[in-house]
Amino acid sequence: MNIAVFASGRGTNFSAIVRAVKKGKIKANLSLLVCDEPKAGVIARARRAGIKVALVKREDFVSKKEFEEKIIQHLEENKIDLIVLAGFMRLLSPEFVNRYKDRILNIHPALLPSFKGTEGIKDAFDYGVKVTGVTVHFVDEEMDHGPIVLQKAVKIREDDTLQSLETRIHKIEHQIYPEAIRLFLEGRLKIEARRVKIIS
Ligand code: GAR
Repeated sequence: MNIAVFASGRGTNFSAIVRAVKKGKIKANLSLLVCDEPKAGVIARARRAGIKVALVKREDFVSKKEFEEKIIQHLEENKIDLIVLAGFMRLLSPEFVNRYKDRILNIHPALLPSFKGTEGIKDAFDYGVKVTGVTVHFVDEEMDHGPIVLQKAVKIREDDTLQSLETRIHKIEHQIYPEAIRLFLEGRLKIEARRVKIIS
């Protein structure tokens, strides 16, 4: 199986996936990084790990359709079976999602359906919830939405700062994303009526 990670930012989840592949916890090839942001830290991480980078910038295309067609070309050239969104800050079109139906995973740093968007950790912290967490889900055409694979709760302590909470959330992300990918690759995720069943 060939995996492509899509990312726009730092790439700590990307690196966690690279480590899991190296350790044999994920038995697949991490074949491609798709990145839309030339300044993203994830690009250097991919180069260091020897993983091919497809830098596809939205502004180089007149339409979203052409932008996504370029991405699809890279995915086809690399025979990608699974797409893993790791901080990819763009909404994929319904056509794209449908083409890779049930083969796109996303991670979000909150307990969906709460605190969607680009600031999930901060929004939960600012709201004052006592429990937040991490969600891995299949992607549908809505933002941070689709059948949930794994969720892990993280308690917010009274002495937490946004930074200390972020550190704990990221640590959990780096554990559960490789785990969700492993379950997918082992064929153990079954979607039934929008629910994901994990086959043991
Ligand atoms: C992660 O916290 C991920 O959950 C989040 O972007 C961050 C990327 O960090 N995704 C979303 O907020 C999706 N709505 P990273 O670049 O260090 O992996």
